[in-house]
Amino acid sequence: MSDLTFNKIAGGVLLTGLIIFGLREASGIVFADHEIEKPGYAIAVEETAGEGGPAVVAAPDWGSVLLLPANIEAGKAVAAKCASCHNFDPGGPNGTGPNLYGTLGKKPGAHAGFAYSPAMTEFGGKTPVWDYEHVDAFLAAPGKYISGTKMGFVGLKKQEDRVAMIAYMHSLGSTLAVPPPKPAEAAPAEAGAPAAEAGQAAAAPAAAATEVPAKVGAQ
Ligand code: HEC
Repeated sequence: MSDLTFNKIAGGVLLTGLIIFGLREASGIVFADHEIEKPGYAIAVEETAGEGGPAVVAAPDWGSVLLLPANIEAGKAVAAKCASCHNFDPGGPNGTGPNLYGTLGKKPGAHAGFAYSPAMTEFGGKTPVWDYEHVDAFLAAPGKYISGTKMGFVGLKKQEDRVAMIAYMHSLGSTLAVPPPKPAEAAPAEAGAPAAEAGQAAAAPAAAATEVPAKVGAQ
């Protein structure tokens, strides 16, 4: 074998090694990027299912749902969807979103040390307190309710999730009074739930495929 042939083979082997190594590095970088985006993605896919305009559901009877231990417990589980951005402990830190201890009853966009979007600050200018109705509407579709908010979360589509979330938030330093329960309408929130869920399951794949990239890109 001539020296030239040997050099060509050795060069080829070296080049192959470099390419393999380079590809592994490159895929590592791509993969790492996706890891960072993942929490936001998972939430968006789950919650975008069933999007089809605002659901027309009677406002909950806050007086009868807020203090139910089962709702508070359920809300603790729903809060897992917020935990990547929000801390719920008294005096806890701000993260991507502001600390949410004691938010019910507070002025929107007013938690110390957090840099709110102009949209949230403006909302706080015309909305004196985060009461049950405002939080309910905001959580249903944050970006639609407060256009320009930097809360990159698609929303809690199911009213039962919002009621549970708000009951949990109420247990965390809320300064809002609990209104007296309305005995006549015990559980309006439950009425439409099974049908809505069935519709969500059917609509899920298409909704997830079309809506998620737009939502994530808009963050
Ligand atoms: C991807 C991150 C993210 C997720 C997930 C998220 N939030 Fe937020 N949230 C934010 C940001 C950022 C803001 C500030 C919005 C602004 O300034 O426009 C915010 C603001 C809020 C506010 C207003 C607080 C204030 O001080 O006025 C409430 C209430 C709230 N979020 C509740 C929730 C709840 C409940 C969940 C879970 C169901 C949730 N958020 C999920 C990022 C997030």
